[in-house]
Order: sequence, then structure tokens, then C-alpha cells
Amino acid sequence: MADLNSLRAQYEKYKSAGASLNMERGQPADANFDLSLPILSEVDASNYMTDNGVDIRNYPGGVLGLKEAREIFCEQLSVAPDEVIISNNSSLDLMGRMFSWALLKGVLGSAQGWVNQSPKLIVTVPGYDRHFTLAKALGFELLSVPMTANGPDMDAVEALVSNDTSVKGIYFVPTYSNPTGDSLSADTARRLVSIPTAASDFTIFADDAYSVHHLVDNPEPAANLLQLAKDAGTENRVLLFGSTSKVTFASGGLGLAGMCEANINFWSSALNTQTIGPNKAEQWRHVLFLRKYPGGLKGLMSDHAKILKPKFDCVQDVLNTELGNLGVASWTVPRGGYFVSLDTALPVASRVVELAKEAGLALTPTGATYPDGVDPENRNIRLAPTRPPLEEVQQAMELVACCIKLASAEYEAAA
Ligand SMILES: Cc1ncc(COP(=O)(O)O)c(C=O)c1O
Repeated sequence: MADLNSLRAQYEKYKSAGASLNMERGQPADANFDLSLPILSEVDASNYMTDNGVDIRNYPGGVLGLKEAREIFCEQLSVAPDEVIISNNSSLDLMGRMFSWALLKGVLGSAQGWVNQSPKLIVTVPGYDRHFTLAKALGFELLSVPMTANGPDMDAVEALVSNDTSVKGIYFVPTYSNPTGDSLSADTARRLVSIPTAASDFTIFADDAYSVHHLVDNPEPAANLLQLAKDAGTENRVLLFGSTSKVTFASGGLGLAGMCEANINFWSSALNTQTIGPNKAEQWRHVLFLRKYPGGLKGLMSDHAKILKPKFDCVQDVLNTELGNLGVASWTVPRGGYFVSLDTALPVASRVVELAKEAGLALTPTGATYPDGVDPENRNIRLAPTRPPLEEVQQAMELVACCIKLASAEYEAAA
């Protein structure tokens, strides 16, 4: 690696260029949204009745969502049409409502709500900041376990769940995890659904936000948590979540929850106390749009991948070229999802983010991928290359590489 002075000079050059770049949040690009623009004109005064005779203007239709929507979007959670609830615009909203219910009233099979039992939730790290914020705001104590290449570290999970009745669940991303891109293996999934837990109402809250967001052709089929739980006789334990936020419009589509039949009955009654039903107009226009889209949901996701893959390739190319043999960082090579997770070899992640910011690049704040906002090792950086255009991803990544080299050299010089 170059010496500190020449790295500083290189960095100053980037800084004086006065860039304004942003790789902070995992948002789709406008080109991704453009694929779904026809949704906006799918429903008009001539087609407010669904195939099954539901008038989208009126209350009747049920809390589970339109049958036609359930038939299409069940695929996202790999469940049967009658095992999915199609809700409104955000999976976080659905998770928030269901966590709140669990706290006040319990889940299927609970003797009482969890709120007075000092409820604890296992989360994987590095993980998704909004999971931590939501669960903590509602009063859960969070217990971190490492996310491995095969899913949650099951030895750590086992140690937490086996004796403590207040450990009520695990909350994680099973496919192309945020931020590591790792997915649950079949073995880990099998262990998770069959692990003995002290809490009889232990629940797996699996946020499958990226289940259909592949970056590779012919992806390996994901472990089917609900099916494996059925095989183990623990299907009541599994709640799956997803949305169309990165399929059609972010916060402008549908939220999904997948579960066994007994849970469908339990949760539809619970949700029905809070709403007569979801927004049917939104569901109907999603159905009409996807029916027409070449290749349906799969076709749309493959068109998304065509836009996203060059950006992920660019991240890998720059990191390999600039840092490949320096030993200053390691990073994931995701096969899907929205992020690349990078670990610096030295505890300099916050310095990298600071240097990047001063040179005009916003990165996800360090610590965001940990429940208390503090990365204990100060090494993890979440890279979110989906929103900026490809040229900006290239510029941003060159700057990231420069900042990593400089921060590492500074650290070594001070040691
Ligand atoms: C793992 C995960 N879950 C949920 C969300 C947000 O989903 P929604 O828009 O459905 O609330 C995101 C957004 O980045 C995410 O990464």
C-alpha cells in the first residue's frame, strides 16, 4: 500500500473534486421504479370489480387481501395462496402491528401477552437498523447473535433459547440478508424450526424482504422455513414477512405475511379488530399490472436484476482492484438483495465513514448495523449501491477504497 502522505494527497484530490454522492440507504433507482409505472394507470372507472366480484370501492373483501393478489404474491414467501395475508404498503407496519399484538395479547398458543414477561428478541448482527429500532421502541430487549454465511449462528441461538422463557423469538432476514447478503441454509432452517425452546410461544419472525431479489440467473432455491416447520410439527412458530417495496414502488405497494392455516385464523382475527380490510384498489392494480408484465413477477424481478447487477459488479471490481491484495478489508459477494457488507481489518470503520462524508459521499453511519448503534469492533460498513447511477457507484467506490486505505494507514501510523 502507498505511504500515508501519498494516500492523504490522493484523498485530498477526491475531496477537492467536491463530489455529492450517496450510498446510505438501500433504495431502488428510478430506472427500477420506471418498470412499474403502468401500475399508475391500471385501475380506472371501468374496472373496479375484481374477477371474483369484489367491488374495490366498498368494505367487503376480507382482511386477508384480494384472492387474486394472494394467488400472485404467495410466491414471494414460497407459501400457498391461503397461507398469505396481503396487507398495506409496508412490511414494517405489519411487523409493528403484529409485535404490538404479541406484546399485549400474545401469539397463537400464548397464555398471555409478552409485555409483562421482560420479553427478549434475538436479532442477527450485522443486521437491519429498522428491525432494532422497532423492536427496541416496543420494549423488547435485544440479544445479538452473529449472522453467518448460513444464517443465524445456531449455537448462539440455542444457548439463548433453551433455558429462558422470556426469549420470545428471533427476528432476522432469511434470504440475502441486510447487510451481508447471506441466506439461511436448509440445515440451519431445520435446526431453527426444531430447536427446543423454553418459551412455548417462541416465534420465528423471518423478514423475507429480499426473497425474490436475485442477482444471479438460476438461483439456488431458498430454504423453505414454513415447509420445514410443518415437517417438524412446529409450523405455528413461523411468521414470514415481505413486501413489494423493492418490486414495484417503495412504501407504495403491498405488505405480505406468510404463515400456516392456524396462524392465518389467529392473525386475521387480530388484524380484523384494527381494520375492516386493506386497500383493495392498490392490490387490484398490482394484480392487473403483474398479469400483463412479461413473465409476471419473475419477469419483473429479472428486469430489476438487469439494472442492479452492473452496480454490484462495479462494487466488486473496484474493491478487488483497489483493495484485493492489501489485507485492509474483506467483503461479501451477495447473490441477491440490496447490500454488500464490508469489514475493515483494523477498527477504522467510523473513520472511513467520516472521511467519505468530508469528501462528499454519504455512507450508512457506522453502528447502524448493530442494535445499540455501536459496532463493538468498529469494522462493519454497509454499502448500498442500488440507488445511484452506475457512474456514481464507480466514483463512490473508488472514494470508499481510498478512505479505507487512508484510515488504515492513519491507524497504523498512530499505533
Ligand atoms: C430487511 C428489510 N426489511 C424491511 C424493509 C422495509 O420494508 P417495507 O418497505 O416493506 O416496510 C427493508 C428496507 O430496506 C429491509 O431491508
